[in-house]
Amino acid sequence: MKAAEIRSTFLHFFESKGHTIVSSSPVIPGDDPTLLFTNAGMNQFKDVFLGFDKRPYSRATTSQKCIRAGGKHNDLDNVGYTARHHTFFEMLGNFSFGDYFKKDAIAYAWELLTVHFKLPKDKLWATVYAEDDEAYDIWLKDIGLPAERIVRIGDNKGGRYMSDNFWMMGDTGPCGPCSEIFYDHGPEVAGGPPGSPEQDGDRYIEIWNNVFMQFNRTDDGVMHPLPKPSVDTGMGLERLAAVLQHVHSNYEIDLFAQLLAAAKGAVEASGGTDVDPASPSLKVIADHIRACTFTIVDGVIPGNEGRGYVLRRIARRAIRHGYKLGARKPFFYTLVAPLAAVMGEAYPELKRDADRATAVLKAEEERFFQTIQHGMEILEAALAGGTQQIDGDTAFKLHDTFGFPVDLTGDVCRERGVTVDEVGFNAAMNRQREQARASAKFKMAAGLAYEGTPTTFHGYEHLVCETSKVTALYVDGAAVASVKAGDDCVIVLDHTPFYAESGGQAGDSGELRNAVARVLVEDTTKIQADVFGHQGRVVEGSIAVGDSLAAKVNAEQRVKTVRNHSATHLMHKALREVLGGHVQQKGSLVNAERTRFDFAHNAPVTDEQIRRVEAIVNAEILANAGATAQVMALDDAQKSGAMMLFGEKYGDTVRVLSIGSSKELCGGTHVKATGDIGLFKIVAESGVAAGIRRVEAVTGDNALAYLQSLEATVGQVAGALKATPAELPVRLGAVLDQVRALEKEIAALKGKLASAQGDELLAQAVDIKGLKVLAAVLQGADAKTLRDTLDKLKDKLKTAAIVLAVVEGGKVQLAAGVTADSTAKVKAGELVNFVAQQVGGKGGGKPDMAMAGGTDPSRLAEALAGVAGWVGERV
Ligand code: ALA
Repeated sequence: MKAAEIRSTFLHFFESKGHTIVSSSPVIPGDDPTLLFTNAGMNQFKDVFLGFDKRPYSRATTSQKCIRAGGKHNDLDNVGYTARHHTFFEMLGNFSFGDYFKKDAIAYAWELLTVHFKLPKDKLWATVYAEDDEAYDIWLKDIGLPAERIVRIGDNKGGRYMSDNFWMMGDTGPCGPCSEIFYDHGPEVAGGPPGSPEQDGDRYIEIWNNVFMQFNRTDDGVMHPLPKPSVDTGMGLERLAAVLQHVHSNYEIDLFAQLLAAAKGAVEASGGTDVDPASPSLKVIADHIRACTFTIVDGVIPGNEGRGYVLRRIARRAIRHGYKLGARKPFFYTLVAPLAAVMGEAYPELKRDADRATAVLKAEEERFFQTIQHGMEILEAALAGGTQQIDGDTAFKLHDTFGFPVDLTGDVCRERGVTVDEVGFNAAMNRQREQARASAKFKMAAGLAYEGTPTTFHGYEHLVCETSKVTALYVDGAAVASVKAGDDCVIVLDHTPFYAESGGQAGDSGELRNAVARVLVEDTTKIQADVFGHQGRVVEGSIAVGDSLAAKVNAEQRVKTVRNHSATHLMHKALREVLGGHVQQKGSLVNAERTRFDFAHNAPVTDEQIRRVEAIVNAEILANAGATAQVMALDDAQKSGAMMLFGEKYGDTVRVLSIGSSKELCGGTHVKATGDIGLFKIVAESGVAAGIRRVEAVTGDNALAYLQSLEATVGQVAGALKATPAELPVRLGAVLDQVRALEKEIAALKGKLASAQGDELLAQAVDIKGLKVLAAVLQGADAKTLRDTLDKLKDKLKTAAIVLAVVEGGKVQLAAGVTADSTAKVKAGELVNFVAQQVGGKGGGKPDMAMAGGTDPSRLAEALAGVAGWVGERV
């Protein structure tokens, strides 16, 4: 039975039992920051299990794309070493949301396996959670499985996460005891039954996990009973296929045959020779192309953090395995197409997005191929001499300079039985982070020691605080008791309306003053999470810790910043609408001038797309919808559908900013209603890194100023061309045509002029022992006419040595020619240099033709006059 048939048999079996067939969710969980990748079929139903979400069905079945390459469930290190681990795999599952429970779940599983998939009953084993007598009895009495093939497995706290028969999605979320079904591959394979010391062998393979969802585990480790007991099951399609196709390894199933062949072909086309089709490296490559392609298709691009870094690690690990097999140029990206051919039927997004995925992988691969060879040499050198461990500094250097993720280094080392000093690596990494922090722009404020009360921020509602108390003062990084006029300092206040730079929004500027002192604040940054440092210069009087000051934000600057910030939210939303859901914020900078927004997208944004984004944002502005900020629990924010950035650490409570149709987690300051933004205009679009685009935009009066300046430029051009702006394209086209016609005419005239001069020059040639020598200046010639004239003179004079010069713009251009019959005596290169040296230049060429330039026309006449003598010495 082919994998495709297994998939559809499973789904239709459960459909016949009243289940709704639901599509796989993306491998990137929607708005679930607790999860790196979709790691199980139940992820998309998490809220349904928890009772937060309702669906029109209480039974569902899916074939889910899963990635286990980071986070709680991570199989990356096992890939290539076992017969049954993958970074990407398909999980077949059936789900009951408060509908049926253990008895039916087990009965369904048994029926499907033994009747429809026709697995021999005596090859099947079951495990149950140690205390789950109910599940035990169902297997024993209802199903009739002999007691010796039912294994109780306890809360194996110290053991492998999955083997304790209590399944959790992650540290938090729905969970419950489970019952796993194992298939016995037979005594010719090494390994023991579940629960035995040899259980990790390949003989008894878990094929299906039935989880009896009963609890929600919260952060504090407490298990809260779910509203209704439910069922969540998961069966690895690849493992079942191996069983049904009578092969022992998942990599021998039909789904992998073509991929492995394609991998072998790709490696050989890139430098590998006679690659062993059984090489574990090919399996790694075939596995990883699945994980990489699905991840990219669902919106991730390789990067240095979060999901992007996991993708990069998987891709580079595959590339290194290709390199090991001999590939010396990019090969991995060519496997996207064969993958789309094998799996595109079941997952149409693969076909739809194959070109983009290919391009993203190609760029990543080209980048890594620039450093892999050098990196491997360094690693080989470190491995030489029988070392048992690669030191942390070397691993770090490989990471930092050559782009070797530490697990890639570990993978190479593991092949040689060597370990990596991960503690040393982390220490080196931390040292570098510290250094980077120390040299950061805001080191002045960031490194300051402060132990007083935190700053209360009033800047959402107010731009002025009348009485703020000074709680600390710093000059040159050191705490001081007072500051005086002329000092550059950092001031901490107990209350402030000043926004401290964060979340991409620039810090406020403004003024602090009291009856005797005045400080101009240039910037505000955070010293600690809740401690705001006002950076500025004392311009009048002096201030001591404990003094009271009125704090006043520069309102004009703030208002401009706020417009740009709110517009950024609307733009983010619009970009997703126009370009697709893969658009994710990768960085932003919002200040009074403009907003700069970086996001994941793999192609330049076209003019047409930019116009659409502008239209959407400006429509939102015209709608003048209100903006509201709400502080709520992170969970509630997630449920509300607010956009959040993966990899950001959020606290338990977050601020959700709703403006127009956008809803985002944001601590920044915003307009009251979209209309306050006035006008939105994108002014630049560019690429900043592979797969990352940058858009810059302006709003309000800045947008007006931008348009006015464009208009002024157009006006000037139109004035000069004596046309209206609307006539410009046609008028400019006509002018350019005219210019081109004139250029042609000039070239023709120069040619005529030169040939007329050439005829005159013939008479100036002097005869030295049968060789005609001519050295002269040509008027109004360019490089081409210079050469043409030289050729003509050579033809006419027959046996000749000629130097011609043109003077233009204070520079001399020289050409020398010698007829073929005389090059044995006079070389054109030497001749041209004889002249060139005297006019401050140098040149070269062939014996019969050479060119040179010079910078001193004043000595040209003299130099040319010397030519006849110079030639005379040589003939
Ligand atoms: N969610 C369960 C698992 O992944 C079925 O094993």
